[in-house]
Amino acid sequence: MTEQKPVTEATASPVKVPTLPDAQTVTEVKHYTDRLFSFRCTRPASLRFRSGEFVMIGLMGDPDPKTGKQKPLLRAYSIASPSWDEELEFYSIKVPDGPLTSRLQHIKAGDQIILRPKPVGTLVHDALIPGKRIWFFATGTGFAPFASLLREPQTYEDYDEVIITHTCREAGELTYGAGIIESLKTDELLNEVIGEGFWKKIKYYPTTTREESPKMGRITDLMRSGEAFEDLGVTPICPQNDRAMICGNLAFNLELKEMLEEYGLEEGANSKPAQYVVEKAFLD
Ligand SMILES: Cc1cc2nc3c(=O)[nH]c(=O)nc-3n(C[C@H](O)[C@H](O)[C@H](O)COP(=O)(O)OP(=O)(O)OC[C@H]3O[C@@H](n4cnc5c(N)ncnc54)[C@H](O)[C@@H]3O)c2cc1C
Ligand SMILES: NC(=O)c1ccc[n+]([C@@H]2O[C@H](COP(=O)([O-])OP(=O)(O)OC[C@H]3O[C@@H](n4cnc5c(N)ncnc54)[C@H](OP(=O)(O)O)[C@@H]3O)[C@@H](O)[C@H]2O)c1
Repeated sequence: MTEQKPVTEATASPVKVPTLPDAQTVTEVKHYTDRLFSFRCTRPASLRFRSGEFVMIGLMGDPDPKTGKQKPLLRAYSIASPSWDEELEFYSIKVPDGPLTSRLQHIKAGDQIILRPKPVGTLVHDALIPGKRIWFFATGTGFAPFASLLREPQTYEDYDEVIITHTCREAGELTYGAGIIESLKTDELLNEVIGEGFWKKIKYYPTTTREESPKMGRITDLMRSGEAFEDLGVTPICPQNDRAMICGNLAFNLELKEMLEEYGLEEGANSKPAQYVVEKAFLD
C-alpha cells in the first residue's frame, strides 16, 4: 500500500474541502443492533460499478509513532446501493476490537470516509448465464450485495422469479434486509423504471438460528429437508431454470456451494459465466 499524506485541516476557507485521499462525505447513518449499521455517502462522479460489486473503504489510520505519518485503514465492502443510485450505501458490522469498524461505527453525517473507486467482484449478472429463477443466499452482512441487486432493474429483466434467503443468528439482524424489501413496494421510481409491481417477483425467506422468529433454522438444513421449497411453494433447484449467488461466512459458502453442485449447477466467474457465483461476506 502506498503511503499517504497526513490529514490536513481545512484552513480559513468557508468551503468544506476534502482533506483525505479519495474522500467522500457521509450523508446518513442508521443503526440496527449493537453489531450492525448502514450508512450512505456521496458518490465520486467518475465511479461506475455493476450492482453486486465491492470496493475498498475506510478511514485514515493513527499516526505512526516514529514518523508521524498516517496511512489509510481500508477494508473490502460490498456496495449495497444499486449502480444507478446517485449516492452509495454500505451495510456494516461493528466488531468491538476491529481495527476499522471499532471507529467506523461512530461516523456521523458530514464526516468523511476514504473510498477507493475500483469496484470488483463476482456477484454480478455478467457472471451468470440466462435462467428463469435467481436465488440470492445470504448470512449476516452478506445481505449487502443483494441489497444492491434487489434494486437493480436487470434482476427483474433477466428473471421471472427472485428468491432471497437471509439467515442470521438473531431476529434484529434481519431488520435492514426486511426494510429494503418492504421499501421496494412503495418506491415510485423503481416501480416506474422497472415496471409497476415488479416486487411481486420476489420471494423473501428470512430465518434465524439462535433467537425465536417465525422461521428458525439454517437455510442449508431447510433446503436439505425440503422445508424451504415447501414454504416458498417452489420446485427444488435445477440447472435448467435456476441461477444463484451466495454471500456469507466461509462455512456457509462452502456448504451451499457443495449443495448447488449436487443440484447440478456449475460455478461461474466474470471470465466464464455459468450457473452460480460465490463471494465471502468477510475473511475467515
Ligand atoms: C469481498 C468482501 C466484502 C465485504 N463486504 C462487507 C460488507 O459489505 N459489510 C461488512 O460489514 N463487512 C464486509 N466485509 C468485511 C470487511 O472487509 C471487514 O472485515 C469488516 O469491516 C471488519 O473490519 P475491522 O477492521 O473492524 O475488523 P477485521 O480485522 O477486518 O475483522 C475482525 C474479525 O471480525 C469478523 N468479521 C469481519 N467482518 C465481518 C462481517 N461483515 N460480519 C461478521 N463478522 C465479521 C471476522 O471474524 C474477522 O476476523 C467484506 C469482506 C470481503 C472480503
Ligand atoms: N451474531 C451475533 O449475535 C454475534 C454476537 C457476538 C459475536 N459474534 C461474532 O461475530 C462473528 C460473525 O457472527 P455473525 O452472526 O455475523 O455470522 P455467522 O457466525 O457467520 O452466522 C450468521 C448465520 O449463518 C449461519 N451459519 C453459519 N454457518 C453456516 C453453514 N455452514 N450453513 C448455513 N448457515 C450457517 C449461522 O447459524 P448458527 O447460529 O447455527 O451458527 C447464523 O445464523 C462470529 O465470529 C461471532 O462469534 C456474533
